[in-house]
Amino acid sequence: MSTPLTQHQTEIERNLEAWQNKPLLRLIYSRFYERIVALLDPKIPGQIVEIGSGVGNLNTHLPQAISTDLFPNPWLDVVCDGYELPFVNGSLSHLILFDVFHHLRAPNAFFRESRRVLTEKGRLILYEPYISWSSFLIYVFLHHEPVALRATINFAQTLPRPRDYYAAQGNATRLFFRREKSDWPSDWSLVHAEAFAGFSYLFSGGFNKPALYPARWLPRLERLDRALSRWPRLFGARCVVALQPL
Ligand SMILES: C[S@@+](CC[C@H](N)C(=O)[O-])C[C@H]1O[C@@H](n2cnc3c(N)ncnc32)[C@H](O)[C@@H]1O
Repeated sequence: MSTPLTQHQTEIERNLEAWQNKPLLRLIYSRFYERIVALLDPKIPGQIVEIGSGVGNLNTHLPQAISTDLFPNPWLDVVCDGYELPFVNGSLSHLILFDVFHHLRAPNAFFRESRRVLTEKGRLILYEPYISWSSFLIYVFLHHEPVALRATINFAQTLPRPRDYYAAQGNATRLFFRREKSDWPSDWSLVHAEAFAGFSYLFSGGFNKPALYPARWLPRLERLDRALSRWPRLFGARCVVALQPL
């Protein structure tokens, strides 16, 4: 049986290869990263840290961010677990998680740690899958991780070790858009929550599947996405959320 580290490394190597050989993917991610950069507030003092950087692609748009992950790789600055961050209290301006929040079994435990390391008006930015009527089918049938719309979410304040692998792609949709737990997160303010259509992304095949359209069609698909983003519950596929400690 392969260990989490070998599984992770196999996925990282496959993702790196896709990143290098699929210009369409780089263009699509570049738009995703622009949405994150737009949510940064340069007036907030402190460093920017990315949690769960994986292959470290966000660095193309944010070279000043400290890239970290649970598992080591030569391009990362720090190896750390999001539940136990090696940063001093109040030292960070922004924490960024790209496709990482849905891997956090105990969001409250992570939020507690984020609160500790962020400066007073610091920001936590999450970029996640969004589950709508249309994207649900794609995430369920074409993605290997569970969507888990009915699973119980663990709201404990701590998550003891050992921490096993966890994935629930629907968690951001449930918590920040459907507001299944309306008073959560109690000591944060939600400064931005936006879901948008992502057919240009879904039909690109992402990191794992071949693209269903040629790169020259991207502008057309992006126009379609912009139009359909007016109805996120029907057509949404991705979302971005920003929070600030109260
Ligand atoms: C789906 S990948 C996303 C990687 C990268 N952000 C990207 O967009 O390509 C999830 C990443 O989160 C990391 N991760 C999962 N749980 C974590 C935790 N508790 N602390 C830090 N990183 C974690 C994994 O090692 C993995 O690299």
